[in-house]
Amino acid sequence: MSAATAASNLVIEGLNKSYQVNSADVVALQGIDLAIREGEFVSIVGSSGCGKSTLLRIIAGLENGYSGEVRIGGSRIAGPGLDRGMVFQEHRLIPWLTVEQNVAFGLNSLDNGQRDTVVREHLELVGLAAFVKALPHQLSGGMSQRVAIARALVNNPQVLLLDEPFGALDALTRIQMQQEILRIWEVERTTMVLVTHDIDEAIFLGDRVVIMSSRPGTVKKIVPVQLPRPRDRSSYDFVRIRKEIYAEFFAEAEKTFAYAI
Ligand SMILES: Nc1ncnc2c1ncn2[C@@H]1O[C@H](COP(=O)(O)OP(=O)(O)OP(=O)(O)O)[C@@H](O)[C@H]1O
Ligand SMILES: [Mg+2]
Repeated sequence: MSAATAASNLVIEGLNKSYQVNSADVVALQGIDLAIREGEFVSIVGSSGCGKSTLLRIIAGLENGYSGEVRIGGSRIAGPGLDRGMVFQEHRLIPWLTVEQNVAFGLNSLDNGQRDTVVREHLELVGLAAFVKALPHQLSGGMSQRVAIARALVNNPQVLLLDEPFGALDALTRIQMQQEILRIWEVERTTMVLVTHDIDEAIFLGDRVVIMSSRPGTVKKIVPVQLPRPRDRSSYDFVRIRKEIYAEFFAEAEKTFAYAI
């Protein structure tokens, strides 16, 4: 085991995943190796269908039938667990439960008093203390995603998995939510793995940006982002990193196009 792997919180080694579609094998992920440090923020970008959600679902313990290893804190994952929280593109709140009931939903192990405290603390963390009694339909898209983030963090997971959490939001709300998640990460220091189609978002938030190749998904390149936060999207270094990532994408798109003709 390398020193980097030993110090890592989330370790993925030789991960392969195929699906059977119409009796043919579709290779979704091939030979994924990735070691993520405790408290690190890693962004993952890649074209549609390259296996980003599959990778997050495997880490979350929601997929079986893969080869390779995924370890958290040194232990091999075996199904879903409270050490991992997940936020999806759509908020997946339960419509007939209030905001606080939605956040409390996964918290069974505490007595009622502790439950209320923990739930309120997390709703304060995402700036929704005034909306504890609201129902999901009374919230905006950005507010609903904040509730989903609070729900994912309420069990103090070691790792928060974010699968295009801001994909359905308008551009301005999206930028606000990026600032919010940054603030939450700075307070909680949870290890974060963010899948996004938005390259600026990936650079704005990540300590590293993992670029995946098109199907079968492999780790094509990892770009470190060693810029102070909060990051200035128009700074020379930010633009330089954006160009580097776009260049990888264009190279990949040309390859896909060449295969198609
Ligand atoms: N349950 C499934 N059954 C069969 N094939 C699947 C299943 N889930 C994903 N796949 C296939 O695996 C590949 C990767 O899918 P995945 O959803 O992980 O991609 P993605 O990178 O998240 O795409 P997007 O950016 O569009 O969300 C695709 O070819 C998809 O068709
Ligand atoms: Mg996806």
